[in-house]
Amino acid sequence: MSTIHLQDVTRIFARPSLSDGLVRGRGLSGDQIDHAFAERVAAQTAVQHDGPVVALDHVNLTIPDGQTFAIVGPSGCGKTTLLRVVAGLDSEYEGRILYDDEDVRDVPPGERCIGMVFQNYALYPHFTGRGNLGFSFMVRRAPDEEAEERIRITSEIMGIGFDELLPRKPGKLSGGQQQRVAIARALVRNPRLFLFDEPLSNLDAKLRVRMRGEIRALQRRLGITSVYVTHDQEEAFSIADRVAIMNQGKLVQLGTPRELYSEPADRFVADFVGVSNIVPVEVVDSNAGGATVRVFGQTIRSRRPPSNPGGQVSVVLRPEALRVESTFDGGVPARVLTLAFTGPLLRYTVAVDDGQGREDGTVLTIDLPNPDPDHFFAEGMPVSVLLPPEVPALLG
Ligand SMILES: Nc1ncnc2c1ncn2[C@@H]1O[C@H](COP(=O)(O)OP(=O)(O)OP(=O)(O)O)[C@@H](O)[C@H]1O
Ligand SMILES: [Mg+2]
Repeated sequence: MSTIHLQDVTRIFARPSLSDGLVRGRGLSGDQIDHAFAERVAAQTAVQHDGPVVALDHVNLTIPDGQTFAIVGPSGCGKTTLLRVVAGLDSEYEGRILYDDEDVRDVPPGERCIGMVFQNYALYPHFTGRGNLGFSFMVRRAPDEEAEERIRITSEIMGIGFDELLPRKPGKLSGGQQQRVAIARALVRNPRLFLFDEPLSNLDAKLRVRMRGEIRALQRRLGITSVYVTHDQEEAFSIADRVAIMNQGKLVQLGTPRELYSEPADRFVADFVGVSNIVPVEVVDSNAGGATVRVFGQTIRSRRPPSNPGGQVSVVLRPEALRVESTFDGGVPARVLTLAFTGPLLRYTVAVDDGQGREDGTVLTIDLPNPDPDHFFAEGMPVSVLLPPEVPALLG
């Protein structure tokens, strides 16, 4: 087990052309590979952009011993690159990577005691589940008893029914079963560090949620330092103790899921983490203890002052923090644009009025929990939106 430190880690690539990616399958992020063919057809007449790609831009990060840490961000933001440099699969970075106090730049990946799990499972197709688990022992000519013992312990950790997967080759396993074997293969070597790269993306929605739970439980039980990469914010939040949000090679914000949700550092995070209404406000008063702002003619409080009270300041209104009422006293006048029942939620979008019966151009999304299916405001109806009296923080 280890604490992992990234100090000012930067990785710059020469920009590949998309057709190179088709041939080599390298230098393109996961999504880019999927789209590469369509892009190539479309791009035959388009201009290719030149210049280097800054895949990691001065990343500073400490992943404490035993924590599950998620890295989340849009396609191409540098997540896989980050895992590869941490694993030692790519050592052409600037900056330093330490496992505990040891600079690992010159330590080959095979000697780092890492378990890696990938999106495409990367199982050896000609080996059975047992063969996959035993592969690394075979390579380093470990005694059979050692391999047997580790496979037995790992099967136990993986839980009920795992034994049944061991005699089968990957081709005879479902996606979810293959992924369990892939996780077990990472675990069998008793790693000090677990690295997951989008391990659940190829599974259907229900199985994904179940596997999330399994991975979370495994982490809790074993306490192995883990880095979990995904572009799915919900998955990151449900698996990790702490989450780092990346954008364009930079680490934008780091915190617990709750902190990221209630106090996003900027518009990108606010947008990326759940659905949000981002509305400009006028700052009435601001001091160390918080701020008072005006929005849609209403006054609300923020528990934190804005970082630039003189500049443009906005508030993030989460859909579940807003209410829709029929009366006009106190609320923001608006008109229902759409409504959708999703079972546990009723989601409205409403257009805000400027107070003279004209729309002011702002559309708000509002979620009401436990809706009564017989009582709702139909499309086109005038309503009143109630704002929360207080928000945790402001943007800007
Ligand atoms: N070997 C390489 N050569 C050139 N450019 C590369 C190489 N590897 C990655 N890149 C570029 O670096 C950027 C980050 O890629 P990376 O694979 O880390 O993204 P990602 O966040 O994992 O994306 P995805 O969610 O789609 O998997 C992308 O612009 C990609 O094209
Ligand atoms: Mg990736």
